[in-house]
Amino acid sequence: MDGDVRINPYLAGNFAPIRSEDDFDLEVTGEIPPELRGALFRIGPNPQFEPRDPNHHWFVGDGMVHGFYLADGKASYRNRYARTPKWEVEHAAGRSLFAGFNPMLSDPSVAGKDSGVANTNIVWHAGRLMALEEAHAPFEMDPRTLESRGYREAYGGRVTAHPKIDPTTGEMVWFGYGVGETPLSAGMSYGVTAADGSVTQRQDFQAPYSSMVHDFMVTENHVLFPILPLTGSLQRAMTGLPAFAWEPQKGSFVGVMRRDADVSTIRWFNTEACYVFHPLNAYEADGKIVADVMRYDVAPLFPNADGSPGRNTAARLVRWTFDLAGNSDAIHEEPLDDLDGEFPRVDPRVETLRHRHGWYAADPGHAQTIKQSAIAHLDLQTGKRQVHALDAGDLTSEPVFVPRSAGAAEGDGWITAVVWRAAEDRSDLLIFEALDIAKGPIATAKVPRRVPFGFHGNWASF
Ligand SMILES: [Fe+2]
Repeated sequence: MDGDVRINPYLAGNFAPIRSEDDFDLEVTGEIPPELRGALFRIGPNPQFEPRDPNHHWFVGDGMVHGFYLADGKASYRNRYARTPKWEVEHAAGRSLFAGFNPMLSDPSVAGKDSGVANTNIVWHAGRLMALEEAHAPFEMDPRTLESRGYREAYGGRVTAHPKIDPTTGEMVWFGYGVGETPLSAGMSYGVTAADGSVTQRQDFQAPYSSMVHDFMVTENHVLFPILPLTGSLQRAMTGLPAFAWEPQKGSFVGVMRRDADVSTIRWFNTEACYVFHPLNAYEADGKIVADVMRYDVAPLFPNADGSPGRNTAARLVRWTFDLAGNSDAIHEEPLDDLDGEFPRVDPRVETLRHRHGWYAADPGHAQTIKQSAIAHLDLQTGKRQVHALDAGDLTSEPVFVPRSAGAAEGDGWITAVVWRAAEDRSDLLIFEALDIAKGPIATAKVPRRVPFGFHGNWASF
């Protein structure tokens, strides 16, 4: 049987979990600007125990937060699990009990119990640090100790890992998918959290079909819900086929509504089958909505509906335009860039507003497996692109922007990124001048061990 044993790719290399919770002072080379004061929080899946599902998916591991604390030119690091109810019950049992996407494979003792893993994004809003995972409510953690504080029950259910914070109003705008009694349903929610942290709105509606709605777009006055054909089906899962699968014949839809409107007013635009994990940003201009998104021809990392392996294609930045005054519901699309990438980010002070600058983790080597070996900056006003390529084998996480000061111009600040040094099997925090990525990092903080590949991070000044 030995010849049949395959190592799950999400349990190998730098995808593999680490099992220690540590506190390190980091050795710094170069100079961390003294004004750079606060913390970069990063989060990713880190299964506490050997998964039950032989087809374990990267997305379902327990969340682990990695905090990089910067002050006075010094750096320290702390990592802790998000101790969700799932983490606690499995910790007590000493083994995994939940099986991830397919509830049919979970231990019967946890049927119907909370399976949240709080592993996808970590957001700082209204003075709270919240670990987010799209099938559950936000999970609060202490920003300094990283101790788990528990779910924010006021959200009333499932909340995306990709809320948008309006820099003008301080509101956090969000949605949920798969909402309702039946797992993998087409039910969705639209919600708003005020600047003081109180949940002020939650409305439910039905999407054209059930899909994995990983992210969405928000502008000054509108919200956009992308329903793209990475479909969810309980019926399919119950017959042993994938819970989530690529079904291009369903086509792509994007629902557009005003932020202050009722969900009954959603207008569904459409385009050909494609997938987007992450938009860069969206804004309003001349009666139109412009959304710059990292677009895949085929959803990567997921199988076809018949269970056959999917294609791992790469994403590139495209511009979608929605003509709100026009009669056509077709989305106009044009390419913005010719470099494969993922994890696009803007300066958070222009999120929902017109942006000039974008940064992303780039894949000049066409690895096509969410393994990016470079950091790119795109100036959409001049069309110029700067790239910093890492040493061979090294891979980067999402670049996260930090403004030089509250009043600095868009893009004036730093880019932070955690990179894996393949030769040493160790990680570094890199700090770049955001508008001069190509000159390389101005500071490097060395972590004495590796930080597993993760999803998202955000900066908090305090
Ligand atoms: Fe994401």
